[in-house]
Amino acid sequence: MSTVEPAFKFRPDDPDAPFVPDPALLSPRLIEIKQALVDAVSAVFEEKKITYAEYEKFRQVLQTLQEIKGVHGWFDIWLAKMVDETYEDEWVGTSSQPEGPLYFPGAPSLTPVGPDYSYALPQREGEPGTPLIISGQVRSLDGTPLANAEFDVWQCADTGIYSNFGMDDQPEFNLRGKFRCDSDGRYELRTIKPVPYMTPGIPQILVDIWNGLGKAHFRPAHVHMKVRHDDLPSGEYMTQMYFAGDPYLGDNDPGENSLSSLEVSPEKHTDPAELTARGLEGYSSFLTVTFDIVVATAP
Ligand SMILES: [Fe+2]
Repeated sequence: MSTVEPAFKFRPDDPDAPFVPDPALLSPRLIEIKQALVDAVSAVFEEKKITYAEYEKFRQVLQTLQEIKGVHGWFDIWLAKMVDETYEDEWVGTSSQPEGPLYFPGAPSLTPVGPDYSYALPQREGEPGTPLIISGQVRSLDGTPLANAEFDVWQCADTGIYSNFGMDDQPEFNLRGKFRCDSDGRYELRTIKPVPYMTPGIPQILVDIWNGLGKAHFRPAHVHMKVRHDDLPSGEYMTQMYFAGDPYLGDNDPGENSLSSLEVSPEKHTDPAELTARGLEGYSSFLTVTFDIVVATAP
């Protein structure tokens, strides 16, 4: 017979003794936030007279999100944005963005294609789309460059499809790659301009919610960027870059997470000499944008 003390008690030592919370484990902050959330949600139920049928629909949406492993991502989109908005007045850096469901770890480490801070995302010969060159600097709020910060970048092809998910015949890790900035935190990356896309396999009940809210079915075009550096509080920082004028930005974005502060306005280049200098023979134009990333660093 085992004499090992069970890690979890299945019944109290004295079932009749009054329950007393352990003061060492109590969190007044947690109690306060939980009550405030209950009060806020209760007020909505009361004011809008939420029906059982509507609540059941909400449960079905949650169930569906759970089935597609989207609960975390969905709440991240809503709540991370609220945290950002809460600290908007004191936050002067680049807004962070959720990772999204189409990140794939293990992207290849790229080698420079020109100066030591210049790279090109892996792409097919004559990759369809308009070439795009993104350049910028990663620095802290006080302007100190994050020397040799590592980027992990991923985006969709001109078809709106991401590699590595078996959705088309793109090579593994097409338009996905890791690279390092130089000692001044500078980087330059050649890719193609992504396009608006719909995440494949979105269940109908979620599409119904988008329709009901008047949302588009497509996310605005964006490039996902993860930055890793020892000076970052969690070692890692994530954002997305968007394009001004995209019809799926702002309130139309079904993900509700695009921000005007993350938009860039591409400059178009058509000079054949410039195209040749960039090794872009075969294309009629290319775009350039500047996207600096300013982040809070660990104290
Ligand atoms: Fe995406």
